[in-house]
Amino acid sequence: MSKKPSIFDLYQMKAAGEKITWITAYDFPTAQFAQNAGMEMILVGDSLGMCVYGYNGTVPVTMEQCLTHSEAVRRGAQHCFVVGDMPLGSYQSSNEQAVDNAIRFLKEADVDAIKLEGGVRVANRIQAITDAGINVIGHIGLTPQSSGQLGGHKAQGRTAEAAKMVVEDALAVEAAGAKMLLVEGVPPEVTRYIWETLEIPVLSIGAGPHCDGQLLIVSDLIGQFQAFTPQFVKKYCNVAEVITKAMREYVEEVKSGVFPDEDRYCYHMVEGEEEKFLNLVKKP
Ligand code: KIV
Repeated sequence: MSKKPSIFDLYQMKAAGEKITWITAYDFPTAQFAQNAGMEMILVGDSLGMCVYGYNGTVPVTMEQCLTHSEAVRRGAQHCFVVGDMPLGSYQSSNEQAVDNAIRFLKEADVDAIKLEGGVRVANRIQAITDAGINVIGHIGLTPQSSGQLGGHKAQGRTAEAAKMVVEDALAVEAAGAKMLLVEGVPPEVTRYIWETLEIPVLSIGAGPHCDGQLLIVSDLIGQFQAFTPQFVKKYCNVAEVITKAMREYVEEVKSGVFPDEDRYCYHMVEGEEEKFLNLVKKP
């Protein structure tokens, strides 16, 4: 898109049956790449804890980290709908805490919406942030911030009873005023039911094709994240291989003296200046 899509443009896409494309990004250059690739939405996910900082999960991520990375992404993608991700500890304590931190995302990083994890249990937070005039995107199913309670990063809603709970979460998120819903790690049968039931756009990460759009983590898509690859990820390239190969060649060329070639990779002195210089520094 040549201009930034508004929430209404995204609703228009749903109405027209055009899929919405969404990717995470954590820095300025990646945001530029996403924008140039035609992405409508960017999530500055708290997955930055794993993808950028090397933590084991998202739990240690702070508001300050999310804000800093959101600012950089905003600068790189003026024409994408940028979503700030509320980290653990930024909205759990009270509605006031949730609203105050959501406002920080808008004031300090100029995002277009915030995302937070949970369904029924965070419905009042979603309502409070929405009442403050901020676009909220709900996130249900596999919610990494509560992976301890879920028994790990496991798909959710795989039995009838569990699927009913996911649907209840979806309904609660919409009723609380969220503008969109992200469903993660849920069977496609369940996502389809949610999609056919809700009015707001439903997006999927690892929750199948029956919805209004897809999200992937950029570090998975480009083959940069090394620790593991979830089953739902399609790697579109392998930058880890490309970068490691380039760095290995650099190491070899420095060691062997091939790089830097003096004729190609140096700034030589202005013609005639070398002789003057040697005279100037000549020892008596
Ligand atoms: O932080 C993130 O990137 C996310 C996705 C896993 C949905 O929340």
